[in-house]
Amino acid sequence: MQKQHRCSPQKAGNNLLTRRAFLHLAGTAFLATTAGCASRTAPPAATPAAHGQAIEIALTAQEVSWELAPPTTIHWHGVDVPAAMDGVPNLSQPAVQPGATFTYEFDARPAGTRWYHTHANSARQLDLGLSAPIIIEPQAADPPADREYTLLLDDWVTGSPAPAPPPADNGMMGGMMDDSGPAYDTFTINGKAFPAIAPLTVRQGERVRLRLINASNMQTFVLSLAGHRLQVTHTDGNPLQQAVEVDALPIVPAERYDVIFAANHPGRWPLYALNQPHTQGGLKTLVVYEGSESAPEAELPDLTPGLRVWSYGLGQGVDRLPQPSGRGATYQLTLSGGMMMSGDPNVWTINGKVYPQTDPLVAERNQVISVRLSNMSMQTHPFHLHGQSFRVLRVGGQKLLVPLIKDTVDVPAMMGTVDLEIVGFNPGDWMFHCHKPMHMDGGMTALVKVG
Ligand code: C2O
Ligand code: CU
Repeated sequence: MQKQHRCSPQKAGNNLLTRRAFLHLAGTAFLATTAGCASRTAPPAATPAAHGQAIEIALTAQEVSWELAPPTTIHWHGVDVPAAMDGVPNLSQPAVQPGATFTYEFDARPAGTRWYHTHANSARQLDLGLSAPIIIEPQAADPPADREYTLLLDDWVTGSPAPAPPPADNGMMGGMMDDSGPAYDTFTINGKAFPAIAPLTVRQGERVRLRLINASNMQTFVLSLAGHRLQVTHTDGNPLQQAVEVDALPIVPAERYDVIFAANHPGRWPLYALNQPHTQGGLKTLVVYEGSESAPEAELPDLTPGLRVWSYGLGQGVDRLPQPSGRGATYQLTLSGGMMMSGDPNVWTINGKVYPQTDPLVAERNQVISVRLSNMSMQTHPFHLHGQSFRVLRVGGQKLLVPLIKDTVDVPAMMGTVDLEIVGFNPGDWMFHCHKPMHMDGGMTALVKVG
């Protein structure tokens, strides 16, 4: 895998050698290779010469595999694991060193579309693709389906071809260009960009389930299946009381949706993103009916104004959280940062502070605490809580008819607000953070301490 975060391999070389030793060894060659970073050159071997001699240094520019940061950990996103299995380096466990092993052991619950991913050096390691689905089968059947596919969506920086214009941050809403992050140019489904991904085969008359997981670092994908409507049955793996039929489904980083479609329209239909740079960058596959293998691929439909797009207010969750023993504090978290608000593209704050200076939220065991997230920045923040799902009560001040049960919630850019309730049923210190790794690394994390 050759996924690169811009031009950092040389600079990060101090993971293997000390920076001092490295600079000493490489001398001026360091500058030379840094300037040539677009071709991903490696630090050259340079032979220091003895005093008084003419120095001849041979520089070799070549592609190499370069280990940036060896240890890692795994976080089980959306699974109610014990705190010691949560996989946050230095909070729940030491990072697992190269060659070492660590056994994660937990009850696989609750059922649903979950996923797991690295939680060490996340911006880099997630970019390298360290994530995968974990599907926990329910005991009683979900809405029945004849066939199912799990699709893990991701974003990549390949640097070639020349990066497409960065996709809009907010799906169809247009970009909030406060993004100094890497230039994501390639978008994949299960690790493949169109047309490399195998088509999804269906048979007429079937009900087909798609488990959609957004494992990308920064993208809000707005998915649509030409010729079909999607019935949303689960948010982050948790069931809705009734399926909600939509034409398009925005999905923010770390969110999951289960959808079902009725295969009643034979042909070869694109499943794609409404945001064109995503589709052009590879986020597309074909749903192909048996018997229609040689049919022409249906054209991408024109976007009609009447399109029904999923939003949280359309869903009604099934509340599976334990009955709280009492009510705790109410917290107001103001999210800010980025170039526009803090003057630094890499600083992301909660109530003006960066983690670990942020104030923790505290719940006694089984107490329910209330949280309002307000986004004063120019980027959307998909907020995720470890260890337990929460209730989404209100979005933009508007009360949902019935709360949704989720573990990741989008807090829209520019004054977006979300009100949550957390029932602290799983004791431990849990991270509560923006799931864009650049924002998490930039400080946008608080702890939720459950007694
Ligand atoms: Cu899926 Cu702390 O993250
Ligand atoms: Cu964020």
